[in-house]
Amino acid sequence: MRDVAIIGVSQTKFGELWDSSFSQIITEAGVAAVEDANIQGDDLDAMFVGNMTSGLFIQQEHIASLIADHTGFNPIPSTRVEAACASGGLALRQGIMAVASGYYDTVISAGVEKMTDVVDATDAIAAASDQEWEAKIGANFPSLYAMMARRHMYEYGTTREQLAMMSVISHDNASKNPRAQFPFKITVDQVLNSTKVADPLRLLDCSPITDGAAAIILCPAEDAKKYTDTPIYVKASTQASGTIALHDRKDITTIDSTKIAAKKAFEMANITNKDIDALEVHDCFSINGILAIEDLGFVKKGEGGKAVEEGMTQLDGEIPVNPSGGLKARGHPLGATGIAQVAEIVWQLRGEAGKRQIEGAEVGMTQNIGGTGGTAAIHILSR
Ligand code: COA
Repeated sequence: MRDVAIIGVSQTKFGELWDSSFSQIITEAGVAAVEDANIQGDDLDAMFVGNMTSGLFIQQEHIASLIADHTGFNPIPSTRVEAACASGGLALRQGIMAVASGYYDTVISAGVEKMTDVVDATDAIAAASDQEWEAKIGANFPSLYAMMARRHMYEYGTTREQLAMMSVISHDNASKNPRAQFPFKITVDQVLNSTKVADPLRLLDCSPITDGAAAIILCPAEDAKKYTDTPIYVKASTQASGTIALHDRKDITTIDSTKIAAKKAFEMANITNKDIDALEVHDCFSINGILAIEDLGFVKKGEGGKAVEEGMTQLDGEIPVNPSGGLKARGHPLGATGIAQVAEIVWQLRGEAGKRQIEGAEVGMTQNIGGTGGTAAIHILSR
């Protein structure tokens, strides 16, 4: 196996992109990543693209072909990867494995979702839950995560205010990120008084409906310095599966797939969580940011809410979480999220994150999950 490096990254503005089509958004991301890597489109050997449900959102399938065609990257092999909200993380992992194995040299891994063209986005997303046992009886993602939040509050005394702080910190960081969907600050009171979505979760606990795309260029580590002075090295890329339905879990406040993939990732990178300087987690709902820092081992089980309340996860805290603004405030275009998380860590490690820069960041980690944890993808990167 060869070591793999990231030599180019990009992310479009996330938000309600009414003036751009699906194919314009992904083309913008693809071309920007190629430019960032100082290569030509002709240098690419293959493309992997994460997308959850273009069929339900824009009635377009066969998007791997569409994207290769519209970006001008034809005739390279182009493959779509789907794992709900972890589609991007797995598209990156497929690219990394293809380069590591020696099958390809230069690969683009991307992610894209155009979600705002349909009225019932929440229903479309619910297709990623267990249809028979969850979605069809009305248990969509806000309500599934609401049950996880309620149980965490019951088991560990997590408070409504602690959940709100998770969103407040994400919005603080997003206010420093020009690519974010919601680049403005909010207060705990605003979260507590926002519209109730699924008790105890309110509007400002939820990630939004988002259009956007992101892309990453990979090559063998030994070649990376030909393209850039600041290659970022992939130290670990792992994946694990969990039960798709919540009721099959022993404990709905723990995402086992995250724990298993994270353990493997720390072993693969030969580091511990004390070595991580920047962390992007899958906070699709405020409770999930809290579960993430517990399941990744940054705090003990049940202490995530307290850690967030005490400022541990702020930009200048012990372990800065979601410097980009996270899914909550950077936005969550499902298939693009896993790629955007890694792009943010690359900017942090290159020292290019502007006002949200984490001083001296050397090692970063991402956690990208599908559904309520049926899939988890973890990446560890270093300068
Ligand atoms: N955070 C902050 N503001 C939000 C928001 C969010 N998550 N979602 C919507 N808004 C804002 C909109 O910008 C809009 O503001 P405006 O009136 O100033 O333009 C207003 O709230 C109403 O927006 P609307 O689109 O009507 O919201 P909605 O009620 O249709 O949808 C949710 C809100 C929370 C139901 C929807 O965002 C949602 O389903 N989120 C979860 C997505 C999800 O499940 N992702 C997968 C996770 S596994």
